[in-house]
Amino acid sequence: MAKIKKAFICSSCGAHSSKWEGKCHSCGEWNTLIEEIISKDTKEEEKRNVWKEEKELKPRKLSEIVFADTPRIVLSDNELNRVLGGGIVSGSLILLGGHPGIGKSTLLLQLALSIRKKLLYVSGEESEQQIKMRADRISAENKNCFILTETNVMKVLQQAKAGKVDLLVIDSIQTLSSPYLDSTPGSISQVRECTGELQRFAKETKIPVFVIGHITKDGQIAGPKLLEHMVDVVLQFEGDRNHAYRILRTIKNRFGSTDEIGIYEMQSTGLREVSNPSELFLSQSEEQLSGSSTAATIEGLRPMLIETQALVSPSVYGTPQRSATGFDLRRLSMLMAVLEKRCGLPFAQNDVFLNLAGGIKVTDPSIDLAIVTSLISSLQDISVGKKICFAGEVGLSGEIRAVNRVEQRIQEADRLGFEQIFISKYNGKGIDQSKYDIEIVTLSKVEDLLRQIFT
Ligand code: TYD
Ligand code: MG
Repeated sequence: MAKIKKAFICSSCGAHSSKWEGKCHSCGEWNTLIEEIISKDTKEEEKRNVWKEEKELKPRKLSEIVFADTPRIVLSDNELNRVLGGGIVSGSLILLGGHPGIGKSTLLLQLALSIRKKLLYVSGEESEQQIKMRADRISAENKNCFILTETNVMKVLQQAKAGKVDLLVIDSIQTLSSPYLDSTPGSISQVRECTGELQRFAKETKIPVFVIGHITKDGQIAGPKLLEHMVDVVLQFEGDRNHAYRILRTIKNRFGSTDEIGIYEMQSTGLREVSNPSELFLSQSEEQLSGSSTAATIEGLRPMLIETQALVSPSVYGTPQRSATGFDLRRLSMLMAVLEKRCGLPFAQNDVFLNLAGGIKVTDPSIDLAIVTSLISSLQDISVGKKICFAGEVGLSGEIRAVNRVEQRIQEADRLGFEQIFISKYNGKGIDQSKYDIEIVTLSKVEDLLRQIFT
């Protein structure tokens, strides 16, 4: 057995310890000791790097390096292409995070089956039969898709190298383990060691690697933040499990922008790309009810019209209830406080519930104006016309602030047949009304909204 020197190192102060302890003997912090490899036998090192080619690296002048535009592997999935910035760059390490059951394995298996490349799909989570069952549901076929149910990272990489694959998919990093560490798979040291190994593999063999990573309860990718630093691209798959829509976001991308998002719908036959999101998040009902209005938002670079719904009803208990789905609860409180103070509307005695259609989460502040409209509409029980939409951020003193890419929002609303769009006065400057069929109305304060719509 080769000699490997290991130690437990405190992640807070760096003190070494030969055995695991709950409390660091040096700085007194709890739960900070992490197992690490200090040195390895060289023979073992050679064996371990079977996939490596001997090559000595020398410093090179930047001016001498020729940039051969690395061809990207372009996928048939346009949404995935979009978030990756136009396809998979060779030698890149891509991390896909998301809550359990959101569809990470489905997305990558679908990729594996639709790509015209030789691919190795490594699963430490499911058996071959389970993967086959899933593949049958997706009903696509790739004769060059190989499945391996192995959890030893070294063996995985040896197989990938020996099989001369074009792409490697790992489901998931938390099930992989390095034989050189005693800690359990999924522990910080294992995740770090395995990711390091995958990164070296990707860089040296130029084979792109996709890695699925679990997410902790608070939405962080499990394992240290370090994991995100080590990879080239971080994608996050999100959505509400009770709804069919899923959003694929880029958190980090060394080869493209992080503004893009991909939208999918989970169906019984796998994930379907959604190329026209606006039409999905608008309600289908013909009748216009009070408490709802439409926001012209932008997620990533894509304009989306989303219906917002509010229910304001007299509170039975002493403390009114507030609940928001898809929107920040504190921001909702802020908007209600603005309406109380600026317009004298009595939200304090009312329960307030807010909901965004389709179960999606919106972070674009331009949705404020539609939310404020829905709140007033429900409180006063006056419905807002169905063909009206809103795009504006509401400030603390009740001013309607300008939003970015307003022309794109107007175009989208126009395309979908809306008749009026309310925007900030500051956005209104320089917009040519004659270019659009939609009427553009500008507002400077929330009081203007009350006057224009609710009187
Ligand atoms: P999965 O990819 O296993 O999620 P993750 O790997 O992120 O944990 O997706 C699981 C969910 O997707 C499961 O609840 C069933 C659903 N699903 C469909 O609705 N249709 C399908 O075709 C497939 C394969 C899964
Ligand atoms: Mg899975």
